[in-house]
Amino acid sequence: MTVAIVVIVVVLLAAVLLFANARRRDRDAAIGSLSRETRDRDRGEASIEQVLGDTDAEKVATGREVERAAALERRRVVVPATVSAPKPPAVPVDDETYGVSRRQFLNRGIVTMMSVSLGGFGLSMLAFLWPSLSGGFGTKIRAGKVDDILNQIADKREPFYVAEGRFYINPYPKDSVPKAKQVGAYSALLPGYEAGVVALYQKCVHLGCRVPWCKTSQWFECPCHGSQYNRVGEKKGGPAPRGLDRFIVSIDNGTVVVDTSPSGLIVGPPIGTNTTGQEAEGPHCIGRAE
Ligand code: FES
Repeated sequence: MTVAIVVIVVVLLAAVLLFANARRRDRDAAIGSLSRETRDRDRGEASIEQVLGDTDAEKVATGREVERAAALERRRVVVPATVSAPKPPAVPVDDETYGVSRRQFLNRGIVTMMSVSLGGFGLSMLAFLWPSLSGGFGTKIRAGKVDDILNQIADKREPFYVAEGRFYINPYPKDSVPKAKQVGAYSALLPGYEAGVVALYQKCVHLGCRVPWCKTSQWFECPCHGSQYNRVGEKKGGPAPRGLDRFIVSIDNGTVVVDTSPSGLIVGPPIGTNTTGQEAEGPHCIGRAE
């Protein structure tokens, strides 16, 4: 969050500095500074006349005087005339003025493009770092009605998978709840267990592969290194250091709400935990339990 605020402040400051710099250059240019070539040409003409001995050469205006006179002339044209003042004569736009307009156009174009780019970058950073408030992994997810979920699991003989939350829901036998309390299950998990469900994080606790469901054994079996977990995520075999991690579940008007935020994630039960006594119900998909 702090990083996002710093990035936005830096982007805004850069845009303001660029805009102010361009405005200053535009203003200076609008006064009508003569280009270096023009000033050199003026100096060159004066020196030739001096070489030829022309007595009027000293009366030739310098480049700076011409520049100042042009600026004053323009200002007279731009300032609105008072009622009593005579209307100033129209001044034709010379090549130099056209050049200034081109510079103004380029300056403003560059500033606009840079401002848009920096603004887009800042907004994308903000969107990336801003916490998701509209649902999805990291928030509380309403998975569906308890009864509907349990019926679907029974019909398909596979867990209820919620992809946006990266978790599986499986039945938790209510007669196993006292045993879960005995083995020290986190009290935050008990409301879900008592409602008959457990929400298991799909990530293998060994090295992080997504653990698929094996329909024949009715266990979770990891294809990466062969870790196996029973229906409620208790470790049964392989190199996993514990059971599957799980999320806190609450029931809101019969709807299962799963908290996938970091504070809602509970580490899996230690090796040896077996509250349900469920053994493999058929052939394994990956290796064999040790
Ligand atoms: S990542 Fe699952 S067993 Fe290694």
